[in-house]
Amino acid sequence: MHLVLLGPPGAGKGTQAALLSRDLGLAHISTGDMLRGAVQEGTDLGLLAREYMDQGNLVPDDVVIGITKERLEAPDVQTGFVLDGFPRTVKQAEALDEILEDIGLPLDLVINIKVPQSELIRRMTGRRVCPKCGESYHLVFNPPRSLGTCDQCGHDLHQRDDDKETTVRQRLEVYERESGPLTDYYSDKGVLVSVDGTGTVEQVADRLKLTLK
Ligand code: AP5
Repeated sequence: MHLVLLGPPGAGKGTQAALLSRDLGLAHISTGDMLRGAVQEGTDLGLLAREYMDQGNLVPDDVVIGITKERLEAPDVQTGFVLDGFPRTVKQAEALDEILEDIGLPLDLVINIKVPQSELIRRMTGRRVCPKCGESYHLVFNPPRSLGTCDQCGHDLHQRDDDKETTVRQRLEVYERESGPLTDYYSDKGVLVSVDGTGTVEQVADRLKLTLK
């Protein structure tokens, strides 16, 4: 299966993509995770990306298209993928069409996860992540067993720089402006479905499973 998860920051794309990857054996491709990895490693890409990410803005199309193309050409993608956070602009969607045509893979479905803005802000400002293993928590909805410590590896948890409230609001504005047109783009192609992203993680996962059936 070859899927794209669309949805605003905090909609639960990363959470649901990880479950789909685990349950269906899909390669989970998150541009946000790839960019944060580059920031952590201090590479040239990371230094460039950080300038945009910390302000809540999109990293330039050409840069993100380049890293996604490279990832989509890896062998594990042949058995299926779930894209999380890409595409985010019409230019990226057009590039994805070209890449998939080149590597001979279809795009089966684009799932748009819908969540009201007030809930998105609550989810992002309460998120805590493990910088070591990447596990994600929420202070209220999915707390770690011991406050401030990762259940998986015991490392201290931290708040993403772009999860501070002013940056979150900027990310939501950018999403509306830059990514809003993607629903028309994929609806015109007949591959878009919308799924209610409210409720518990398990409830949303069940809706996604029903949709995929
Ligand atoms: P990225 O990491 O992709 O961030 P995002 O799209 O803004 O998405 P988030 O990770 O914030 O949210 P999500 O929908 O994955 O939700 P999650 O499951 O984590 O991108 C970061 C930055 O990188 C961008 O701002 C941009 O600068 C750059 N970038 C990335 N891709 C790019 C691209 N293609 N082009 C240009 N720039 C790009 O959940 C959020 C929280 O809610 C968690 O705490 C989680 O535990 C909780 N939660 C999840 N589901 C539920 C639920 N059902 N109920 C309660 N809580 C829940």
